[in-house]
Amino acid sequence: MKIFAHRGYAGKYPENTLVAFEAAAKLPVEGVELDVQRTKDGVLVVNHDERIHRTSNGKGHLKDHTFEELRELDFGSWKGEEFAGAKIPTLEEVLCVFQQTHHVINLEIKTDVVAYPNIEDDVLDLVNRLGMADRIMYSSFDHTMVESLLQKAPSNLVGVLFEKILVNLHEYGERIGSNSLHISMEAAKRGVIRQDIEKGSVFRVYTVNKVEDYDVMESLGVEAIFTDQPELMYAHREKKAA
Ligand code: G3P
Ligand code: CA
Repeated sequence: MKIFAHRGYAGKYPENTLVAFEAAAKLPVEGVELDVQRTKDGVLVVNHDERIHRTSNGKGHLKDHTFEELRELDFGSWKGEEFAGAKIPTLEEVLCVFQQTHHVINLEIKTDVVAYPNIEDDVLDLVNRLGMADRIMYSSFDHTMVESLLQKAPSNLVGVLFEKILVNLHEYGERIGSNSLHISMEAAKRGVIRQDIEKGSVFRVYTVNKVEDYDVMESLGVEAIFTDQPELMYAHREKKAA
């Protein structure tokens, strides 16, 4: 089972900041996951919440701030004083951290309440400019966005994100044109994914932070997990393989 470091390395560092990504880039895990949004003045940046108060000393919606305004803010202190002054990174800065590594990079294009019209085109332009298209995996909870991505990127690199349990996930994936289904651990535990895997679906599960849950996901046939604890999960996998 593959391991993706979630939001950079959220268990140990301020999520979605360069210090987290620089740590993740040194890990022998297969991938890294991050969240993409866009500033008021059109800069692609990496941050999970649409509102910035939880992880910074600012407030309001990210989309209502210019990049310059956001860069003035501290996105590190909330996690610990040792991270004071960590800045919100641009997507380009983050991708550059991984330019020479082996990792697959899962870009989750955010949309919850906020919509970022045509953001996927900006993301694809950047990825192509950096020559990283073959290492980027896309996903979104917005399935209109997923359909748009499927027209512009190989289908095996586009995952459909689900929050709640759904029946007939495989059939849904087939209809939308992707067999990569990214679901929550709760959904994986309570759902019926074995049958879907037999039909050809690939499941990637978030967010798996305990070794007991690693084992359950492995026994279900999950292809990859997203974890805030990538070193712990990697050590567990190594131990099992020994
Ligand atoms: O992409 C998997 C996972 O990151 C989705 O949930 O809320 O952590 O972005 P969230
Ligand atoms: Ca995410």
